[in-house]
Amino acid sequence: LAEVESFIIENPKQLEEFRLQFLAKKGKIPALMEEIKNIAPNERKNYGMAVNELKQKAESIFKEKQELFENAVVAVQAPLDLTLPAEPYQLGSMHPLTIVKNRIVEIFERMGFNQSEGGEIEDDFHNFTGLNFPENHPAREMQDTFFIEKNPDILLRTHTSSVQIRVMRSQKPPLRTFSIGRVYRNEAISARAHCIFHQVEGFFIDENVSFVDLKQTLYHFVREMFGRETQIRFRPSFFPFTEPSAEIDISCLICKGEGCNVCKHTGWVEIGGSGMIHPNVFTNCGIDNEKYTGFAFGMGLERITMLKYQIKDLRLFTENDLRFLRQFV
Ligand code: PHE
Repeated sequence: LAEVESFIIENPKQLEEFRLQFLAKKGKIPALMEEIKNIAPNERKNYGMAVNELKQKAESIFKEKQELFENAVVAVQAPLDLTLPAEPYQLGSMHPLTIVKNRIVEIFERMGFNQSEGGEIEDDFHNFTGLNFPENHPAREMQDTFFIEKNPDILLRTHTSSVQIRVMRSQKPPLRTFSIGRVYRNEAISARAHCIFHQVEGFFIDENVSFVDLKQTLYHFVREMFGRETQIRFRPSFFPFTEPSAEIDISCLICKGEGCNVCKHTGWVEIGGSGMIHPNVFTNCGIDNEKYTGFAFGMGLERITMLKYQIKDLRLFTENDLRFLRQFV
């Protein structure tokens, strides 16, 4: 009994050894059972009982260990069963703003523009003063600003034009660059307005850059982005940092000029602002405004994306509704 109980069984191989040694036909327990015929008849009963007890003990040890190893085998081997179909991957999809952003990067890089980076937290100089917004001028109220600190003013940039100042003050012309990023305005959230959105800013500074270059650059962009048949129109406008200034309109893609709600039955939709960089901006950035001229433009990423995919509500971009997001590959 002691021999049976002290046998070490830690793996299936040892279990098999145990079986062979004690329980198998040629094992020790059947041999003890054979012995019974050689035992004196008056001793046989006790002997038989003892051997039976031993046999039951050995069998129960065998069974217990066998079950233990079987379960262990299932637990260890299940994930390794190479015949099972693989766990399906949850594939994500690109956010529509990312898709359009990547496309914009592609178009401008092919035209020789490089990408510039700017921070979302700005000071008054880069967001307003450097861009020729006069102190206490109503122009500052064109864009309702989120201030982080007053005096000196630290704020969430209201447009990506701040990148113009950053680049012009750190690099020398010729400059041909663009920047895409988030901007903030204190506005009520609706289908057509949001306090957080994105802009694409671009500008080109060199000797003899003219309004013709501005028009042709944007015309090319619009046709690449929306298709060859897209028309472009410039409408006189005002920005403190450009002179002359123009609003950029494109022919309505939804109704193709037939008249719809998106273009308010005009056949045209606005996608941004543009103009020739104001000489004061050059001066503020230490660039010779006699030698250099340049154009700049700023467009809304959400607006472009909404037109491209016929999305009617700006709030869809930030609601993270998978039914919306999964439509874009
Ligand atoms: N920053 C302007 C806006 O947010 C757009 C603009 C950019 C206009 C560059 C002219 C030149 O409305």
